[in-house]
Amino acid sequence: MDKLIIRGGAPLRGQVEAGGAKNAALPAMVASLLTGESIRLHRVPQLGDVRTIVGLLNHLGVSVEGRGRETISLRADHIGQFEAPYQLVKTMRASVLVLGPLLARFGRARVSLPGGCAIGTRPINLHLAALEKMGATVSLDAGYVEAKAPRLKGARITFDGQTVTGTENLMMAATLADGVTVLENAACEPEVADLAALLNRMGARIEGAGTPTISIEGVNHLHGAEHEVIPDRVETGTFMVAAAITGGDVTINRCLPCHLEAITEKLRETGVLVEETDSSIRVWGDERVQGVNIRTQPYPGFATDMQAQIMALMSIAQGSSVITETVFENRFMHVNELLRMGADIKVIGTTAFVHGVPMLSGAPVMATDLRASASLVLAGLAAQGITTVSRVYHLDRGYESIEQKLLGLGASIERVTE
Ligand code: EPU
Repeated sequence: MDKLIIRGGAPLRGQVEAGGAKNAALPAMVASLLTGESIRLHRVPQLGDVRTIVGLLNHLGVSVEGRGRETISLRADHIGQFEAPYQLVKTMRASVLVLGPLLARFGRARVSLPGGCAIGTRPINLHLAALEKMGATVSLDAGYVEAKAPRLKGARITFDGQTVTGTENLMMAATLADGVTVLENAACEPEVADLAALLNRMGARIEGAGTPTISIEGVNHLHGAEHEVIPDRVETGTFMVAAAITGGDVTINRCLPCHLEAITEKLRETGVLVEETDSSIRVWGDERVQGVNIRTQPYPGFATDMQAQIMALMSIAQGSSVITETVFENRFMHVNELLRMGADIKVIGTTAFVHGVPMLSGAPVMATDLRASASLVLAGLAAQGITTVSRVYHLDRGYESIEQKLLGLGASIERVTE
């Protein structure tokens, strides 16, 4: 298992490029199941989760050319399996995204229930209730969800709660359904809109993606298409915090600042300077930041995927901050590790009360979740002394070449294989 050894204290300076978005690339790759023709995707990030979805798609019979490169082609013309096995769904919940497309194109799918994960129970009841509304028969058997439908039927679906992959699953299912589907209270994340853009290039008729009401007119078949994945807003936000936490000056290029408004606003409130163009963000400042209060929300609110990273920053802020997690019930695994680095944080329920300390101190730490691991790297960059972050595979699931990118900004960071 790899470890990252970080010597903290160096202000990060320079330019870095955002990679393609993990949470847009995964559904885009899965969308290939909806057609027998080739789907060519550009700007696919090289990540653990991307390798996992390639494994799942291969298992189903999808051929993937160019794996490990930025441009890949997927072709689902020989699907011989309709099951997403426990082994794969357990390691990556996004595997449930195959449910909608398999059901829509082949009339059946069997997907392992995800069960618990590091950030909460994360059920898929909303995906299933919506598919049932479209006429699917859903049953549970030996830990698997089995769904069948000769042809899905358009329906009006109001989600009981906002779900990103639920919206994506249903949007994909509805593209090949008979009639019009309207999704209400749909997730508005940019990754949903990006998936809709790809599906429309494949011949789907989707309107309103990126808003709470999405309307999808079913078609009889979809065709091949080419698409570039949007830049990763969470990776971009993580580099923004890296600049702020080290008192540095970092410009992130090839990103979309319009997807990061809630983060930008909060960072400005802490006192750091943020300057944007259409495709780059510069963050700088050498004063100690001010504590700010944060409440995570679905997009366009402050992303839960940035909560752990901002908490690392608040750990060394002047004054106190209150951070409330409203999306997941258990997403504070980084807190105990930050405490070991000298932070002063109390958690009551889903709220963390952070009292800023002047300095963190390096320590051996580890986390069991991707974004929690990112927050420990950020804390390590700012801390006095050496921080060793173990279980780097969590980080590798969602950050492309993280240590090379940080090295390029002047960080002292080294990967060691045990
Ligand atoms: N929920 C239900 N029932 C459902 C679906 C969701 O109760 O059927 C609950 C969840 O338990 C959670 C909330 O609704 O409390 C929101 O969950 P959502 O379904 O939106 O999450 P997701 O689709 O599983 C995606 C991202 C996550 C990101 C969340 C929230 C992908 C592949 N994953 O997950 O990304 O945190 O949306 O924005 O898109 C990450 O990248 O680190 C990550 C965890």
